[in-house]
Amino acid sequence: MAADENRMPDPSPRPGRRPRYRGTHPRRFHERYKELDPARYPQEQAHVREQGRTPAGTHVPILVPEILAALAPAAGEIVVDCTLGYGGHARALAERIGSAGRLIGLDIDGVEMARTRDRLADAGIAIEVARSNFAGLVKVLSGLGLAACDVIFADLGVSSMQLDDPARGFSYKHDGPLDMRMDDRIRRTAADWLNSAAENELAAAFAELADEPLAGPIAADLAKHRRRRPFSRTIELADVVREAVTRVDRSADANRAVVRVFQSLRMLVNDELSALSHLLRVAPNVLRPGGRIGSLCFHSGEDRLVKKAFRTGVEAGIYESASDEPITPSPEERRSNPRSTAAKFRWARRAEMATAG
Ligand SMILES: C[S@@+](CC[C@H](N)C(=O)[O-])C[C@H]1O[C@@H](n2cnc3c(N)ncnc32)[C@H](O)[C@@H]1O
Repeated sequence: MAADENRMPDPSPRPGRRPRYRGTHPRRFHERYKELDPARYPQEQAHVREQGRTPAGTHVPILVPEILAALAPAAGEIVVDCTLGYGGHARALAERIGSAGRLIGLDIDGVEMARTRDRLADAGIAIEVARSNFAGLVKVLSGLGLAACDVIFADLGVSSMQLDDPARGFSYKHDGPLDMRMDDRIRRTAADWLNSAAENELAAAFAELADEPLAGPIAADLAKHRRRRPFSRTIELADVVREAVTRVDRSADANRAVVRVFQSLRMLVNDELSALSHLLRVAPNVLRPGGRIGSLCFHSGEDRLVKKAFRTGVEAGIYESASDEPITPSPEERRSNPRSTAAKFRWARRAEMATAG
């Protein structure tokens, strides 16, 4: 399939024009013209959600009531949503702080951030957006004339919009360019990594970032494949990983291995663990006394970083309290939104003392 076929459709197609697709129902992302145009087809999104699916081009926010209860955003407060995405959590936070509050939304994805800013503005929600890595939180706040805020929230990883759009290269189900950059200013794509990293570097990434048990044999097969032909497409990578797993261990779940390889490449390309470490380090400096921080993780390595930062913060007296156990989605939420299944939310509360910043 040519990369062009995966492009997002024109957001305002002429009435009566719809993409051609095979069969009776659109299957591919760009064919789902009704889901991608909720203004024109308002029933479609509700219908898709009732089936436990995420409508194309949207993202269903996870654990919203639990996050609001833990972070307790109050009228007039300054809240930073470090990962704006589709703006689901931002909307809920905005309702709590009201017009006297300030909601600041960060995202590294310029395309989706602009869409979300416009969508929130159309809904009458005031938000100040900044295209920034959340590792640059201190700089963003000082650029807005702020030394501190009351709430910091981060919902880590990729949004459904990014995941589902094959043109972004995160999908192992639909073919697309092997890109995986959340921020298109990042220099190296997933293909660049895969085609240039040493075989042992790849094996280490699969093992360390995704606990892949067959990391070595998979990396060896990828290295062999790229000598014949450099990787450029997502399905090509998924196929080679499946073949490598099946060759070594017929009983292993080859599809799970594909998920793990894609996840580790994504984390490498976007340098996700170091951005999170940085955020966790600087957050106490910009949280007001009594301020709250919360993080929604989908990856055990990220969750370990958050847990450790909050625990050591409590021990050091930086945080007054923190969640003992992660908050996870109820069975109902998992059923209605299967993408919530791996989510773990943790929070901490800044001690009532002067901030360092
Ligand atoms: C899971 S989505 C957030 C969804 C959002 N909470 C909602 O309700 O729609 C994660 C978002 O964070 C962004 N992101 C990931 N890493 C980031 C980083 N280091 N700095 C800023 N944004 C980041 C991604 O581009 C994506 O839009």
